[in-house]
Amino acid sequence: MTLPASVSPSTALPQRTAATDAAWRALHEAACAPYRQSGRFAWHFARGKLGRDPVFRNLLERGQLPAQGHVVDIGCGQGLLASLMASIDAMHAQGRWPAHWPAPPLGNRYTGIELMPRDVARAETALAGLVPKPGFVCGDMREVPLPPCDAVVILDVLHYVDHAAQAALLKRVAQALRPGGRLLLRVGDADSRRGFVISQWVDRIVTMVRGHRVPPTYGRPLRAWVALLQQQGFRVQPLPMSQGTPFANVLLVAERGDSA
Ligand SMILES: C[S@@+](CC[C@H](N)C(=O)[O-])C[C@H]1O[C@@H](n2cnc3c(N)ncnc32)[C@H](O)[C@@H]1O
Repeated sequence: MTLPASVSPSTALPQRTAATDAAWRALHEAACAPYRQSGRFAWHFARGKLGRDPVFRNLLERGQLPAQGHVVDIGCGQGLLASLMASIDAMHAQGRWPAHWPAPPLGNRYTGIELMPRDVARAETALAGLVPKPGFVCGDMREVPLPPCDAVVILDVLHYVDHAAQAALLKRVAQALRPGGRLLLRVGDADSRRGFVISQWVDRIVTMVRGHRVPPTYGRPLRAWVALLQQQGFRVQPLPMSQGTPFANVLLVAERGDSA
């Protein structure tokens, strides 16, 4: 994939060690465990997604989530990020946070927005015991009001709405983020034909397996995603985010500029 020349290069990941691998395995176990209460599907889905998708470990290894803030997860599915953040809080409280990792994203309030009632039900059942309790709003991201927040996370979701709705949502995200806030947006790069087509097919199959109707999707080349964010006043850094998968996914780390 070719990254736009106008933006800064990717930051390097901190080196992985036996200690950080063990810490990640422990976080994975802890974050998946609550989903047993939501049934076999929810538990297996959590294990596969948190285990194989590089984005979750990358977010914490790059220190991209805030601490003591409000994180809004749009298209949150069954709320895996809420469970991961709670597991991070617990690991840190037990004094087991690896010294090689950046400061943990502790004490965040979490709001998940999700269209599908079945996913919200799985999330609420699994995570009912967490303190503070994560909030879930079942609704369409095109309409649900966004609270003032410190980070917005949108992973593999924006392509479900048309181009005008994508722009309108990103405008509202820029308005909701507090100064210094950050949008973490993962998208596919439509210019990387093979990876993009594979991700579209996998997306369709997973949507069907989760019991949902397969909707049309609206992709863009990476340059167009970056330009769209810049129009909303964001400074953007793209990071390849499909390591270990056949996809063409990119995490766009977008920070509010002065004009947002
Ligand atoms: C590919 S899944 C990603 C789930 C989650 N972000 C993750 O990475 O684990 C996309 C999610 O977006 C949700 N979604 C799609 N259109 C939506 C909309 N208009 N409003 C809210 N959520 C939506 C889907 O129901 C699904 O849960």
